[in-house]
Amino acid sequence: MSRKPNVWVTRLIPEGGLELIREACEVEVWTEELPPPREVLLEKVRGRDGLLCLLTDRIDAAVMDAAGPSLKVISNLAVGYDNVDVAAATARGIPVGNTPGVLTETTADMAFALLMAAARRIVEGVDYVRAGRWRTWGPMLLLGYDVHGATLGIVGMGRIGQAVARRAAGFEMRILYFDPYCDPGKIPPGIEATCCTLEELLAEADFVSLHVPLTPETYRLINAERLAQMKPTAVLVNTSRGPVVDTEALYQALASGQIAYAALDVTDPEPLPADHKLLTLPNCLVVPHIASASWATRTRMAQMAAENLMAGLRGERLPHCVNPEVYGSQPGQSEPER
Ligand code: DGY
Repeated sequence: MSRKPNVWVTRLIPEGGLELIREACEVEVWTEELPPPREVLLEKVRGRDGLLCLLTDRIDAAVMDAAGPSLKVISNLAVGYDNVDVAAATARGIPVGNTPGVLTETTADMAFALLMAAARRIVEGVDYVRAGRWRTWGPMLLLGYDVHGATLGIVGMGRIGQAVARRAAGFEMRILYFDPYCDPGKIPPGIEATCCTLEELLAEADFVSLHVPLTPETYRLINAERLAQMKPTAVLVNTSRGPVVDTEALYQALASGQIAYAALDVTDPEPLPADHKLLTLPNCLVVPHIASASWATRTRMAQMAAENLMAGLRGERLPHCVNPEVYGSQPGQSEPER
């Protein structure tokens, strides 16, 4: 095309990505702190050649139709893409990009940080000191659970699950995993991990860490029945997507002592309102979906999202495309991340 492509970026992203886009495009950026409201999204996308969006934007057929036939690419600044109606994009011949790989280690760091914070009651300890309640060393004060030597159950042995397994090996944990493919080739070299059913994993694990993408199959995978299969001393860690866990069932399990603790980077709903009953529980730790939030990783994610966007605008294959069917390839050729 002779004119510069016209793109919309739905939030301020790290400069490393924005500058790549600015060099070649007319770009408008939504600079508010909160995501664009639905009506703004529908309006702003009109007539664009490219869209760089976030996991907080619901990109469905209506958005694609509002953009119109000029829309050549949708680039999502995340590895997860459950916010995009990929089938609708494919039906319109629009490639959808994501950012796999680059956030694997950073997200695994956070999963492990949450696991350890829950096990050793770090947040409760900090609150205790801040509240002026620390009056003496106490033999029974804030007792938690050992991480070393414990059994870790990894649900979903994708890239991030594997990275968590590597960390767990350093703590001499016994590793169980549940994965639909149960492929021993996925186990990092030198690490022992046993593939088992979800029921076996839940019954045996001291820590359960979730690393599955959100799909119709994984929606509320951890429900009341599954929580009841866990040990009363078990800790649940979720850095995947909030709706993988049934929030009401989790609240009941934590409040009744059916499981010991939950450490959540993601919630359903998200954001979790400050008056949500989960936040009244001392044995539930919630952080605001920040597992990939390191300076280096978010910069790299922005660059990757920009590279996907630019490739799509040039009519080239996206370096990271979730619907290769648009190029005549078989679906499922790009492995899901989590
Ligand atoms: C993702 O990329 O899907 C994370 O949830 C945010 O980094």
